[in-house]
Formats: sequence, C-alpha cells, structure tokens
Amino acid sequence: MKQKTEKLLRNSLKNKLLINLSIYKALQLKRFCYFRELKFKSMPENKVAYITGGTKGIGFGIARILLENGISVAFSGRKRDDVEKAEEDLKKYSENVLGIVSDVRNLESEKEAVKYTVAKFGRLDFVIANAGLGIFKPVDELSAQEWNDMIETNLTGVFYTLKASVEELKKTEGYYITVSSLAGANFFENGTGYNASKFGVVGFTQAAMIDLRKYNIKSTVIMPGSVATNFNGNIPSEKDSWKIQPEDMGNLVLDILKMNPRVLPSKIEFRATKPA
Ligand SMILES: NC(=O)c1ccc[n+]([C@@H]2O[C@H](COP(=O)([O-])OP(=O)(O)OC[C@H]3O[C@@H](n4cnc5c(N)ncnc54)[C@H](OP(=O)(O)O)[C@@H]3O)[C@@H](O)[C@H]2O)c1
Repeated sequence: MKQKTEKLLRNSLKNKLLINLSIYKALQLKRFCYFRELKFKSMPENKVAYITGGTKGIGFGIARILLENGISVAFSGRKRDDVEKAEEDLKKYSENVLGIVSDVRNLESEKEAVKYTVAKFGRLDFVIANAGLGIFKPVDELSAQEWNDMIETNLTGVFYTLKASVEELKKTEGYYITVSSLAGANFFENGTGYNASKFGVVGFTQAAMIDLRKYNIKSTVIMPGSVATNFNGNIPSEKDSWKIQPEDMGNLVLDILKMNPRVLPSKIEFRATKPA
C-alpha cells in the first residue's frame, strides 16, 4: 500500500514537472515570436529615400547601403556627368535608383527633385540632407563669397531640402536626417564659416525635430568625425583607412531607420575609433 502511494506521488510530481516545462516552453516561444514581430515591424520595406549630394563620398555610401537593403533611392548632385556616372555605378546594387541634377541652394530646384522622386517611386519616406562643402581659412582671409557658399549649401540647403519635402514626409510619417559634423560642436582654427554652418545644422535639426514629431516624422542630426571622401579636395586612398568609410555612414543610417517607431536618436556623434 505504502509503495503504491509513493509511486502515485512520484507520477503526480513527474506530471507536474512536465506541465511546468510545457508552460515554460510556450512562454519562451511567445517571447521569441514577440521579438521577431518587433524586428519585422522595424524593417524598412518598399520605402523611398532622397539623398542630397549622392554623387560621391558619404551620400554615395548611404545610397549604396540603402539600395542593397531594398530601399529605392533618388539622389542629387550639381553636375549632370557626375550624376549620370553615379547612377550607373549604383545600378550595380539595385535598379531602383534615380539620379537628379539639383542644387540645394535653390528651393525651386529641390522642389523639382522631390517631384521627380515621387513621380518615379510613388512616395517619399526618408530624406537625407547631406550635400555640403568646406573652405578652411583664417577669418580675415575668408571672402564673402566663400562664406556664402558654405552657409547657403550647408545650412540654408538643409532647410530648403526639408521645405521641399516636408508635405511628402507628413504623408508617409517619414524620417528627416541631416549630416552635420563634429565641427558642429567643436570650433577650430580656420573653421569660422564651416563651424558656423555646422553648428547651425545641429540647432536647426534639433528644433525641427520638435516641430515634426507632432506629425510622427522623426529627425536625426548625425555629426561625423573624419570620413574617407573627396571632401576638401581629398582623394581617398590607403592613408584614409583609419577613417570612417562611406559605407559605415550608410550602415548607421540604415540602423537609425530600422529603429522601433517609439525611439528617436535625435543627435549622434560618430567618430573613428582610433584617429591617426
Ligand atoms: N568627409 C568628412 O570628413 C566629413 C566629416 C563630417 C561631415 N561631413 C559632411 O558630410 C557631407 C558630405 O560630404 P563628403 O565628405 O561626402 O564630401 P564629398 O565627397 O565632397 O561629397 C559632397 C557631395 O555633395 C554634393 N554637393 C555639393 N554642393 C552641392 C549643392 N549645392 N547641391 C547639391 N549637391 C551638392 C557633391 O556633388 P557636386 O559637387 O557634384 O554637386 C557631392 O556629391 C557634407 O555636408 C560634409 O560637410 C564630412
């Protein structure tokens, strides 16, 4: 009798353990599905980006990574030959690419660029205001023309690009990203015009972020350190291998776009791990 009771008790304990194990497994599976669902929701699919200054350097790197990840890309530059060459090169990654001749210093030209993008791809989800240039001279030697070139391209240009695209971004609850620089937080010798423009981009994007999030449009300003590009007459080579590479900028942008809708990285400093 005692033996029978012990056996019954053992079996009941075994059954309880098995039931608990099944409940535990079911919970694990539910958790796994939940995370998969979140990940899936945050993947940008069938989306369209417009990148200013995409013929080379950072803009080209961002275009390449977005195309490789299934995002359609329109990009701009001022010179028709460069735009056509970049479009040809980018077609290696995807056919869903459109090169547009546009100058960010001209609002009408940016409006046309947005119109072409929407006519070709049907919508606009992500705008990356990247076009820019730098002229580095002591303030007493910097000409009015050089000052205006930097302010009109680097600062007024990001406003014009947003102005031209904001109604499309409202429709898609999209994303507006600007490319400032570490020079947008740290001033240096010979940097007056460049510093002024890039400090301006940081302030502009942060204020725009507050205005635009009411429409579920996210905004981020990226502040890169040295990137291996054609900036300021540089010819990228082996000597630039320590720098951030254009595709690193592309991967950063992709990571930002993939983030859960509830989070907003509004300002990002992005630097090389070991400066030369
Ligand atoms: N490289 C760096 O170390 C670094 C660091 C921090 C921030 N940044 C910023 O990153 C951005 C991209 O620079 P990058 O390094 O990639 O330089 P880049 O290799 O010289 O490329 C600049 C791109 O901008 C375009 N562009 C210039 N003026 C334009 C205008 N008015 N309208 C339309 N497109 C224009 C250029 O094309 P066209 O000349 O043919 O028009 C080119 O496609 C700039 O805003 C720069 O300030 C660069």
